[in-house]
Amino acid sequence: MRGNRVKVVEVGPRDGLQNEPYTIPTSVKLELIHRLAETGLNVVESTSFVSDRAIPQLADAEEVMRALERKPGVHYPALVPNERGYERARAVDVDEIAVFTAASEAFNQRNINCTIEQSLRRFAPVLKRAREDGVRVRGYVSTVLGCPYQGKVPVSDVVRVAEALFEAGCVEVSLGDTIGVGTPNQARTMVAAVAESIPVDQLAVHFHDTYGQALANIAACMDIGVRVVDSSVAGLGGCPYARGATGNVATEDVVYMLEGMGMETGINLVNLARVGDWIAGELSRPRSRTGQAILKRSS
Ligand code: HMG
Ligand code: MG
Repeated sequence: MRGNRVKVVEVGPRDGLQNEPYTIPTSVKLELIHRLAETGLNVVESTSFVSDRAIPQLADAEEVMRALERKPGVHYPALVPNERGYERARAVDVDEIAVFTAASEAFNQRNINCTIEQSLRRFAPVLKRAREDGVRVRGYVSTVLGCPYQGKVPVSDVVRVAEALFEAGCVEVSLGDTIGVGTPNQARTMVAAVAESIPVDQLAVHFHDTYGQALANIAACMDIGVRVVDSSVAGLGGCPYARGATGNVATEDVVYMLEGMGMETGINLVNLARVGDWIAGELSRPRSRTGQAILKRSS
């Protein structure tokens, strides 16, 4: 029987903002990260050190990380696609990074302009340097339950890419349903297959909520021992290279569900709902279901 503590990885400032149509002031990003860190979240993924042509919304990565007031006990990882990104991140004291690739070749080409194999080769020197520098590395596998270009993605491809990241030194592998097409049995089967070679406590699930399946998928994966869940406050997000995909599952909804299942997250839901309400207002986006309900109840 697994413990009942769940680590929620907040990806709103990165995944949530990378696809917004308007330029978001750096000050708003910083306020979002600072406020999230006050809710009890231990991990707030904060930005990406990628090409500013690929992701203009996160072109201020250095400014964000330089100005960030880091709260002890909270981790602020950033995405890094290559050695150049690693150097940029380290120059502003990032001490936790995530590399990212996909289970589908077609998506990987559009997202990071290389094959899966090439991406793994690019990560090798990053992982080597991270090991030497004591930097923790998470690995993302995208398109684990479907690809916007290729369609179906065999589970064996997900397993192969996840294993490669793990063997290369990623201490956590996050399995991403980038376009939110998966349903609970598929999600559980896929995660269980990966968990045959990677300890389940080193796996995370990352569901976008395009078809409204994310909470059900998370619940199904909890059954097989997953205890790390990625989500985004107010359900912000999307990937510019996965057209039609909506945001991540909302952190407020995830926390409400997990606590209702007897899990502990350490997150203050009322405070989180206030952050969700504020950022949704800033970006003119809808509030999460739980966020709305909590704020109505407590007003
Ligand atoms: P490329 O064109 O193959 O690389 O891009 P390149 O080496 O030929 O460089 C092209 C240009 O990018 C050059 O600039 C480089 O200097 C620059 P130019 O000379 O043309 O002006 N460049 C960089 N600039 C800043 N930082 C860097 C960097 N590297 C090269 N680190 C590359 C390859 C990976 C750079 C590009 O495709 C890229 O940045 N892609 C980012 C894609 C991305 O961030 N996607 C969203 C995140 S993934 C996601 O959301 C999924 C996830 O949430 C999980 C899920 O939901 O499934 C994680
Ligand atoms: Mg994502």
